[in-house]
Amino acid sequence: MLKIRNFALFLVIVASCNSNPSSRMSIKDVHSFSQPDEAVVTHLDLDIVVDFDKQLISGKAAWKIKTSGKAGSVIFDTRDLDIEKVTAGKEEKPVPFKLGNEVKYLGRSLEVQLEPGTEYLTIYYRTSPDAAALQWLDPQQTAGKIHPFLFTQSQAILARTWIPCQDSPGIRFTYKAKVKVPAHLLAVMSAENPREKNASGVYTFAMKQPVPSYLMALSVGDIVYRPIGPRTGVYAEPVTIDRAAYEFADMEKMLLAAEKLYGEYAWDQYDLIVLPPSFPFGGMENPRLTFATPTILAGDRSLTSLVAHELAHSWSGNLVTNATWNDFWLNEGFTVYFERRIMEELYGKDYADMLAVLGYHGLLQTVDEFGKDSPDTKLKLDLKGRDPDDGVSDIAYEKGYFLLKLIESKTGRQKFDAFLKNYFAAYAFKTMNTEDFIVYLKNELLDGDESVYKELKIDEWIYQPGLPGNFPEVRSRLFEAVDKVVLDFKQGKTAAELPEKEWSSHEWLHFVKNLPADISIEKMSELDQAFNFTNTGNNEVLNAWLELSVKRSYKPADQAVEKFLVNVGRRKFLLPLYKELIKTEEGKKRAIEIYQKARPNYHSVATQTIDELLEFHP
Ligand code: BES
Ligand code: ZN
Repeated sequence: MLKIRNFALFLVIVASCNSNPSSRMSIKDVHSFSQPDEAVVTHLDLDIVVDFDKQLISGKAAWKIKTSGKAGSVIFDTRDLDIEKVTAGKEEKPVPFKLGNEVKYLGRSLEVQLEPGTEYLTIYYRTSPDAAALQWLDPQQTAGKIHPFLFTQSQAILARTWIPCQDSPGIRFTYKAKVKVPAHLLAVMSAENPREKNASGVYTFAMKQPVPSYLMALSVGDIVYRPIGPRTGVYAEPVTIDRAAYEFADMEKMLLAAEKLYGEYAWDQYDLIVLPPSFPFGGMENPRLTFATPTILAGDRSLTSLVAHELAHSWSGNLVTNATWNDFWLNEGFTVYFERRIMEELYGKDYADMLAVLGYHGLLQTVDEFGKDSPDTKLKLDLKGRDPDDGVSDIAYEKGYFLLKLIESKTGRQKFDAFLKNYFAAYAFKTMNTEDFIVYLKNELLDGDESVYKELKIDEWIYQPGLPGNFPEVRSRLFEAVDKVVLDFKQGKTAAELPEKEWSSHEWLHFVKNLPADISIEKMSELDQAFNFTNTGNNEVLNAWLELSVKRSYKPADQAVEKFLVNVGRRKFLLPLYKELIKTEEGKKRAIEIYQKARPNYHSVATQTIDELLEFHP
């Protein structure tokens, strides 16, 4: 066995030097036990029951398998799953299986013996009450307050906590699913969806395009659907659906703009579901059905770049997928670039420039926090032995974005766009790793010209920490005007004397983020009276204001801080507030008090990070 494994590893290394997409073997993924070169899944038939009383999912996952011929077994990933039995073939003959030892973050391997010719394996299983992907919400934690809610979050390696699978982004499969839920609730998945409730509570789904496991997704609740355009629409709880439909009215236009840029949309339908506020992310690009936080319902369509972002993943990420989590920047950096191109197409260059400058400041802060020599500031990551969630930072998103901007500025937009369009077509439904991308870039965009590659310092961008000296210039005309107002304010103008301007929420956000770090309570109070920041309905602006409020101990915002932390579960918003709170002894006490109240409202993705930050042991 050992010899075979070593040989496989050798093949993998050889294979990773080969950039031809069709002949490439899989690249070793350190976050999966699976051995896809020996036996790999190609299709899933999922048949599950969602039990809200016991807070678990049970049923069977029937996998179609392709083997190398010699394979004696197939290996799946599981974590906190109770495996009841495994059967082989359509006739369902029980077969021996073995669960490996628990490995931190990875869970346990499930090795199933294969008899020659086995094409189907059915795994009977149930989830555990603390399955990390699942969040079970009481009615109180929903907008409607009457029905419970369940949603999943599989990225990066949590799919294995609700489905036994080969949980690696390099492994794709098609799927069908049958999901039974309580009769008055609707189930939706990252697949072709039924859209309407039925009396039986049994729903069926089909995903005919192959997807990796991290894009498996399910939501169950009192959910209704509203179409936006011919291929777009929104799901939300009934009390939220009107607001959602208003907020995302431009979805169809975004889809058309995206297609115009980088080619036909490959997933037929593009819908979005607004989840309860505990959703730990802003958005998640589940195919055909983006999952989104309700904190982007600002009432003025100002936070919809998030929709452009998740939509863009339909190309960068879902169509061409990072081979391993070390190549995460290929998913996110490209998506941020694409997102800003969509926003520019719809709302103009000034708008996209504001997003870029906000991103740039986030990046500077991240590099500052990590330290400019930290390996985690490299684009190509090394997450072996760690939770891939550790790789989720502004580096992949913004350093990745600015590298692509740099390349665009060198080659010109037209050439760069043609290159990207071809890239998405050439690698559609395939995976990509950093090394192969470099080869492809050199050949297809830089005309094999090594000197341009060197001049752009692309190796430094990808393999070295910090920000290279040739970082592209970032400017926003509109923000420069805001900077002048901030300066006036710093130099003594009162809030009332500031030019009365029809700013967009991005300009307000930039304003708040650039207020002096040592601003006095009096000045804060003056601003609050003039602009009502503590009560703003824009969660981005509110979050920035509350962070400053905690920093300056601005008491009038105390209640708002607590309310925000208890109600909202979006990690990106929680972390800065808790980080600011724990800077003082008194603040740390308060943080823990609030956290005890708030924690039941958070998804495991958020509690894992915040437990660590607060040194909280539940
Ligand atoms: N795919 C990510 C979310 C994610 C990344 C989940 C890694 C788990 C592991 C999604 O596309 C994303 O980037 N969301 C952002 C929003 C975006 C506008 C930058 C978020 O949630 O903040
Ligand atoms: Zn993303």
